Amino acid sequence: MQPAAHPSSVLKQKDLELARVFAAYTISATAWLVFATFIGILLAYKFGAPDFGSGAWLTFGRLRPIHTNATFYGWASIALVGLAYYVAVRSCRTQLYSVRLAWVGLWLFNIAAIAGTIALDLGYNDGNLEYREWPWPIRLIFLSALLVTAWNLVGTVARRTTDDIYLSNWYTMGGVLWTCIIAVVAILPWYQYGLGQVAVSGYYMHNAVGMWFTPLALGIFYYALPKLLSRPIYSYALGVFAFWTNLVFYPIIGSHHFLFSPLPWWLQTTAIVFSVAMLVPVLGGSANFLLTMRGRFGQMRESYPLAFIFVGVIGYLVGSSQGTVEAFRSMQAVWHFTNYTVGHSHLTMYGFVNFAVWGCIYALLPAATGKYPGQAGLALHFWMALVGSFIYVLSLSIGGTIQGLNWIQGSPFIQSVVDMGPFHVWRGVGGILMFLSHVVFAWNVWCMTYGPSARAAPLVPALARDDTA
Ligand code: HEM
Ligand code: HEM
Repeated sequence: MQPAAHPSSVLKQKDLELARVFAAYTISATAWLVFATFIGILLAYKFGAPDFGSGAWLTFGRLRPIHTNATFYGWASIALVGLAYYVAVRSCRTQLYSVRLAWVGLWLFNIAAIAGTIALDLGYNDGNLEYREWPWPIRLIFLSALLVTAWNLVGTVARRTTDDIYLSNWYTMGGVLWTCIIAVVAILPWYQYGLGQVAVSGYYMHNAVGMWFTPLALGIFYYALPKLLSRPIYSYALGVFAFWTNLVFYPIIGSHHFLFSPLPWWLQTTAIVFSVAMLVPVLGGSANFLLTMRGRFGQMRESYPLAFIFVGVIGYLVGSSQGTVEAFRSMQAVWHFTNYTVGHSHLTMYGFVNFAVWGCIYALLPAATGKYPGQAGLALHFWMALVGSFIYVLSLSIGGTIQGLNWIQGSPFIQSVVDMGPFHVWRGVGGILMFLSHVVFAWNVWCMTYGPSARAAPLVPALARDDTA
């Protein structure tokens, strides 16, 4: 008969398994980030040199959905799920419901992303269904990855040893469960024709960002920020309020992507009204994070994880408020179809979601693995990503407005193309800085996982391996 393992060694083994899962999700997501944004650079280059790479495999039409799907489902989704698992285990003071399911989920996410990328490059594309261009059998694989994740995450929270479910888990579990529903609706064949398809496209597109990336990113903020500052969140009740108002207002706003379309006018107006209502959870959530940091902003000088999270909160606040302004008919008349929207996409997905993921990975991964990135690597990543994305968003916002005004004035279309020239070059400059910052991030991830164990902790408020929420 085998002697029973000592409880502390069992715990150590469980910690090790969790660290491995968290590290594997982060490494895999990072590989997708580097790949997808390399494609982003190629796309940006093509605006100045449209004849470059004219073979079918390198056409803009094939590369663009490869970039968007790989950033969404390869990079951001995988990274956020890895973080959500870690946060669930630590804040519930428990163990993963199933380590095996976590690995199965990771494989399924990757198989879907690899198969989707290959299919798109071979020209198999589900047409005009934005952010769900992968052929439907591949989307089924992604859906199964989501289901596995939902099962495992809810199972982990159900095994908690704490009385309450900490706020972070409301957001992350909510995000995964809502997204299972959204992904099913987006695949049902009877919604894929005529006007129904337009309505579902808006529903899917906006909920992919609003009910998937947004709640997951906010959920991990609610864990990492108090941890970094060693103080509780400013208001738990405000966090709960923002959670429910997000759920009430977000699912209705998708039609603001199709203003002036044949969709019923009342549906478009409802989407605009709820886009304004979105200010409630956005201001509530951002205020909660900023008030948690009150009096401690100076600490960002010593803690890059905190600085990343701060930029993420500002990206959320500014990007979402910009979205509300963008949703008015008078504003859509200028900005719709222009590069201004691409600026908004990157302000939110990059300025908010990317910075949130980076800040939380830097805050939590070293606590799991015991390995730290160097201060120079953190600084390089932060400043190149911040300056690069600032140039990217500013140039497209100004250029996109000029583009829209050109069209309103009825100038020949080519005039708007010529006017955008310098702004596209600036977007390329910003894009190169962003891409280089991702290569540095990959190096930092290596330091936090396989790097030398002896590397000293940088000047971050100590993140001891305690298990408190
Ligand atoms: C919560 C308040 C928000 C509102 C009211 C809002 C509003 C809008 C509007 C009106 C558009 C359509 C622009 C057009 O087609 O001309 C748009 C596009 C977009 N938004 Fe937002 N937004 C919000 C937050 C966010 C967030 C938090 C994210 C990311 C996490 C995001 C990501 C995007 C993306 C990727 C697009 C481009 C969609 C496309 O390909 O057409 N938005 N948003
Ligand atoms: C080096 C960094 C990046 C570069 C150079 C880049 C470049 C581009 C380019 C050139 C487009 C096509 C725009 C068009 O059709 O006019 C695009 C679209 C898009 N990219 Fe990126 N990108 C980068 C990073 C990212 C990241 C990290 C994300 C998400 C996390 C992202 C999300 C998107 C989205 C959602 C769109 C569709 C925009 C829309 O339809 O409004 N990008 N990107």
